[in-house]
Amino acid sequence: MTTTSTTNDTTVAARSTPRFLNKIALITGGASGIGKATAELLASEGACVVIADRCCEEGNALATRLSRERRKALFVETDITSPASVESMVARTMSEYGRIDCAVNNAGVSETSIDLVDASSEQWERLISINLRGVWLSMQHEISAMLPAGRGAIVNVSSRTGLVGKPRLAIYTASKHGVLGLTRSAAIDYAPCGIRINAVCPGLVQTPFVESKFGERLPELARTMNPLGRIGEPKEVAECIAWLCSDAASFVVGVSLPVDGGAVA
Ligand SMILES: NC(=O)c1ccc[n+]([C@@H]2O[C@H](COP(=O)([O-])OP(=O)(O)OC[C@H]3O[C@@H](n4cnc5c(N)ncnc54)[C@H](O)[C@@H]3O)[C@@H](O)[C@H]2O)c1
Repeated sequence: MTTTSTTNDTTVAARSTPRFLNKIALITGGASGIGKATAELLASEGACVVIADRCCEEGNALATRLSRERRKALFVETDITSPASVESMVARTMSEYGRIDCAVNNAGVSETSIDLVDASSEQWERLISINLRGVWLSMQHEISAMLPAGRGAIVNVSSRTGLVGKPRLAIYTASKHGVLGLTRSAAIDYAPCGIRINAVCPGLVQTPFVESKFGERLPELARTMNPLGRIGEPKEVAECIAWLCSDAASFVVGVSLPVDGGAVA
């Protein structure tokens, strides 16, 4: 048992029992990067994690590894651009576990930098359908599943670019601003029903997403991107997501939490 010098009973209790013991946590985009780190962290603290991703190989490999490590994990092939796929992601979770305690809407894609006037409708449709409509569809089904229980926590993964503009990245910026709009509005609507909805806004984080986007420019970019002068680790974002999902954040509703080494500051 972990000991602590505080006299706060809640802190003592929280430390002595895994935070997510037997909680059911659904994570979209859970096969890679921030989603994968979140699945690993929540599973290590007792949660049954449902890894929903369109990448079967990575998703299955993660679920298999976690299960081998005596964690509880299930992979569900999901494409969040498809309403039927999102519906079946939530239906499968409900049929396996009977409820959803936490949902992390993390799946997202980036865009190649491009002037707004040169971007095509296809680029707009693709980005918005994954980064924004996918979060909306996921929330619709997750909230419907949480409502009968009268409790639940949802964390949407926006971006630093959800809080500020970024040159030559208008569609991505719009999609991530949209995620914060969805988060705030839904947070107000469903807090009275016991469902807390929040968002995190990561800065530059070392994942396949940014490695493929920035390549060799990444180390230099990382040095200048924020006051800490370094890139973030997926686990550092996962820790904030886990906290927002946990009972320790019981009075936190509708926030957009920067996790960016001070970039927005
Ligand atoms: N890495 C960063 O620096 C950074 C910064 C700000 C915001 N973000 C956001 O964090 C989230 C995760 O990014 P990451 O860096 O971990 O990326 P990543 O590419 O490592 O992981 C994203 C995952 O989402 C999945 N995915 C993509 N489209 C999907 C779809 N249609 N249906 C289901 N799954 C799908 C991918 O297969 C992948 O497993 C994204 O929403 C991204 O916008 C990342």
